[in-house]
This record gives sequence, C-alpha cells and structure tokens, in this order.
Amino acid sequence: MPFSIRNYREEDFKILLAIDQSCFAAGIAYSAFELKSYINRRGSFTFVAESSEDDKRVNCGTSIIGFIVGEQTRGTGHIITIDVRAEARRHRVGSALLELAEKQLRLWKSKIVRLETAVDNISALSFYKRHGYHVIKTIPRYYSSGVDALLLEKNLLSPPASR
Ligand SMILES: CC(C)(COP(=O)(O)OP(=O)(O)OC[C@H]1O[C@@H](n2cnc3c(N)ncnc32)[C@H](O)[C@@H]1OP(=O)(O)O)[C@@H](O)C(=O)NCCC(=O)NCCS
Repeated sequence: MPFSIRNYREEDFKILLAIDQSCFAAGIAYSAFELKSYINRRGSFTFVAESSEDDKRVNCGTSIIGFIVGEQTRGTGHIITIDVRAEARRHRVGSALLELAEKQLRLWKSKIVRLETAVDNISALSFYKRHGYHVIKTIPRYYSSGVDALLLEKNLLSPPASR
C-alpha cells in the first residue's frame, strides 16, 4: 500500500478524531477536547499518513490512514497516541509513523521515549516489542474505563534493532 507522511494540518482534525474513536474503545479513545489539547500542546508534534491510492471507497472518503501524536517534556520523549485505520494495518504505516516520531525526538535530543498502552492491547504490545520497547511497570486503572496500562520505554541512543 503506497503512502506518504506529512505534518498535521488543522483541517485534518475531524478525521483524526474519527480514526481515534474507531481505534479505541470508549474510556480509552480521546474526546475531541483531549485530542485537540494534545495536538496543540507546546513541545508536541503530529504526523499524518496518507494513502497515495486514490481509492476513497476503501478509505471511507479520506486519504488519511493513520497518525501519531508525540511530545518531548524535560528531555524525555512521549508517544501520546498512534492510530492506523483497521483497513490499512499490517502495511507498515504504523512503523513508518513511529520511526518518524523517534527521528523527531532524536533531533530534539531525547534520550528515551515512553508510552502507555492498555494491558490487553496485544497487537500494540507486539508492535512496540518489534520496535525495541520494553515494559517498565504497570499503571493500575490508568484509563477511565478502569483498565490498567503498561508503561513502555525505548532507549533512543541504542542503534536501531536489525529486522
Ligand atoms: C498498533 C498499530 C499502530 C500498528 O500499526 P500497523 O500499521 O498495523 O503496524 P505495522 O504494519 O507497521 O506492523 C509492524 C510489526 O508490528 C507487529 N504487529 C503489528 N500489528 C500486529 C498485530 N495485530 N498482531 C501481532 N503483531 C503485530 C508485527 O511484528 C508487524 O510486523 P509484520 O506485519 O511484518 O508481522 C495499529 O494496529 C493500530 O492503530 N491499532 C489500534 C490503535 C492502537 O492500539 N494504538 C497503539 C496503542 S497507543
């Protein structure tokens, strides 16, 4: 699946919100207010993946197939969310978004990057493990649904893992 990645534009917001709400259950998905505040937060960045195929049928009227929101605070990188539309998964869109976010954080001199994911999100755990993340601790009842999160971390100074 050919795709490209670009910086977020304000007119993307509604689509990103719809993708987030389709990717996560209630209690884990962000509200419009939350997502907007993360995207606009000082020290954050948002990258958007767009399909290069002009197939709006597959893409439900939009060419946007995924996005990532990250930030750096006090020298530590943080992935706030990464969402790929269900129809576009396992085509390395998530990997390209995550690798670009890590590149941005390295440019900003982050030494480590952290993120949280639900303990039962097996596909995300497998995805992050593939990208060199490891579990630091469990955060009880992290999500408003009551589900625990795992805090994962990656050392950005280590050479990239070979595939
Ligand atoms: C997690 C997510 C971002 C992965 O995006 P993706 O574009 O499908 O991932 P990639 O195609 O780049 O996958 C790279 C590797 O990660 C692993 N992986 C990805 N999805 C997986 C799954 N469902 N099951 C097992 N391993 C998986 C595999 O090792 C995969 O390589 P392979 O396809 O060669 O086996 C996507 O599944 C998603 O948006 N999920 C819903 C939202 C979410 O859970 N976000 C993360 C929590 S914050």
